[in-house]
Amino acid sequence: MAIHIPRGTQDILPGVVEQWQYVEQKMRELCKRYNYSEIRTPIFEQTELFQRGVGETTDIVQKEMYTFEDRGGRSMTLRPEGTAPTVRSYVEHKMYSNPNQPTKLFYIGPMFRYERPQAGRYRQFVQFGVEALGSNDPAIDAEVIALALDVYRELGLKQLKLVINSLGDIESRKEHREALIAHFKPRIGEFCSDCQNRLEKNPMRILDCKKDRDHELMHTAPPIIDYLNEESRNFFEKVKTYLTEMGIEYEVDPRLVRGLDYYNHTAFEIMSNAEGFGAITTLMGGGRYNGLVEEIGGPPTPGIGFALSIERLLLALGAEGVTLPVENKLDCYIVALGERAKDKAASLLYELRKAGFSADKDYLDRKLKAQFKAADRLNVKYVAVLGEDELEKNVINVKNMETGNQEEVRIDFLIEYLLERK
Ligand code: HAM
Repeated sequence: MAIHIPRGTQDILPGVVEQWQYVEQKMRELCKRYNYSEIRTPIFEQTELFQRGVGETTDIVQKEMYTFEDRGGRSMTLRPEGTAPTVRSYVEHKMYSNPNQPTKLFYIGPMFRYERPQAGRYRQFVQFGVEALGSNDPAIDAEVIALALDVYRELGLKQLKLVINSLGDIESRKEHREALIAHFKPRIGEFCSDCQNRLEKNPMRILDCKKDRDHELMHTAPPIIDYLNEESRNFFEKVKTYLTEMGIEYEVDPRLVRGLDYYNHTAFEIMSNAEGFGAITTLMGGGRYNGLVEEIGGPPTPGIGFALSIERLLLALGAEGVTLPVENKLDCYIVALGERAKDKAASLLYELRKAGFSADKDYLDRKLKAQFKAADRLNVKYVAVLGEDELEKNVINVKNMETGNQEEVRIDFLIEYLLERK
């Protein structure tokens, strides 16, 4: 029986992979502009990192992690997200003692969640994320949001909606917690068993339950924003002022809660408004996590970041009909006819590549016409034809495939000829 790809995963094949490379390149470029440096952490971590970091009562930890015991009997987990590993690395390498602060990091890499696959939801997906550690300035909240929006905008997306909320500080959260318990407790029997378990442990998690999303109590639950203390309110006001001054439009959604436990203060998501985008419209999510570094064993350090998946980004581009300017041209294809020409073509090809050209030749003993067809399919700029006659004269026939112009060029002059026209 044939072996198939695991459910919820994708092969990214030539022809599509160029789009991935293009968007990844754009992300790297933008991070450079915003002064974020790349970090690469392992694909798997000790399970405890996510239990502590993401939170015991979250869907991710309770239902979605790929956890296994290694041969030494240690519990390991394929990373479901990039924030906890980044913070683990930040603490482990004492990045907080680096004189350049805040520490501004980004990552691009695969994450793993055992979710029910559907359009835009995979079991392995690639997140691009940024984390700014060490600053409590609301201006950096605005910076991180601006960077997220820039990724989408610079790739050509227009139908975006930025939604923000504040989850307040620990003190505000305590009061809100009591209000939520009082709200849900009398009718908690109508909710799923997860929600029932979460009532006392972490009632805020009830608000992003996928099963009970439509229960009327969900819509009437007291929003956190009504419980913000003065400090939290002021912080949120500043974030909003920065956004407004940057000309960034946003909507405040007092019901926005995020699915991970580490958040406080600013929380945000960007949605696609594009028609036909499908059921899942959230393109990215992020927020502030001022307690996480301490939770993972570091000194009290504020942090903020976001992550988006390239899969959903590409879906959004498709929904808005944006095509990326992906150029996949080969500089030169050598068409060789006859044994002697074939031999010469092999060394000539090597010279071309050493000179920096992307180049190829036929390896299937095809006829002239078929070699030209192959060159056409490869979208080449120049076809260089080498036959017995040319070899005799020590020349090669170079055809510009865009203009149709054809010229005879001395073989040892081919590289200079192409360089002049690059
Ligand atoms: P998250 O909301 O769990 O947050 O995921 C962020 C983004 O990852 C989502 O908005 C979506 O684009 C993508 N994503 C999540 N799950 C899937 C999936 N199964 N298939 C495809 N795409 C998916 C976090 O992960 C936080 N670490 C974000 C963050 C960084 N907060 C602060 N810093």
